[in-house]
Amino acid sequence: MRLNKFLSTAGVAARRKADDIIAAGRVSVNGKIVTSLGAQVNEKNDEVAVDGKRISLPLSFVYIKLHKPKGYACTNSDEKGRKTIFDLVPSSQRLFSIGRLDYDTEGLIILTNDGDFANKVSHPSGEIEKEYIVKIEGDIKQSELAVLRNGVVIDGQRLPKAKVKVAGVQANATRLSVVIHEGLNHQVRKMFEAIGKNITLLKRVRIGGVKLGGLKRGEYKPLKPYELDQLIF
Ligand code: URA
Repeated sequence: MRLNKFLSTAGVAARRKADDIIAAGRVSVNGKIVTSLGAQVNEKNDEVAVDGKRISLPLSFVYIKLHKPKGYACTNSDEKGRKTIFDLVPSSQRLFSIGRLDYDTEGLIILTNDGDFANKVSHPSGEIEKEYIVKIEGDIKQSELAVLRNGVVIDGQRLPKAKVKVAGVQANATRLSVVIHEGLNHQVRKMFEAIGKNITLLKRVRIGGVKLGGLKRGEYKPLKPYELDQLIF
């Protein structure tokens, strides 16, 4: 395995950043500093260290889908001391989340101990669709839907286009399905804020071919092999 993939899988840094760490002379293999970017390692036998600290790969990989409830942060340790999604999935191993959801957003999030997989799936070049159910107060006009679909403009900057459909209309509320490819900070909330709509529910229901399905809030289960296949491109 290439040394940069080893470091990425172990969660040290994504491959390009791992190359910088290697080039800076911070990585040793079997006690010798290695600066060659194409270096290969035998992940079973070689001893890899960064800044003198031994780095090892997990013995087996886990890929989990979780229904994140509102009120949980997607960080390994929250600086405000709030509950995190990692409190919901007890594990003896270090898990990474693939992308993030806001504290007040619920729905599908994928967790893994495979850092390289997490980096690949969250990279924008993969253009993986993310589908959200959005509930807003009141109704929405065709002209407002057109603005969301074309990409709202905030401070002269246009947010990416989105697929937006009305999924249900109630007395004082509307449910919409919103599909985006990117994971910009607060992207969906900013879209609706730009057209003056108040979001009362934001829930992610799909990442690529992986659906939230019948998972209840706080529940999690391993991804099926066919779900994993649909995330790797
Ligand atoms: N867009 C948002 O605004 N928040 C999320 O949590 C996810 C997408």
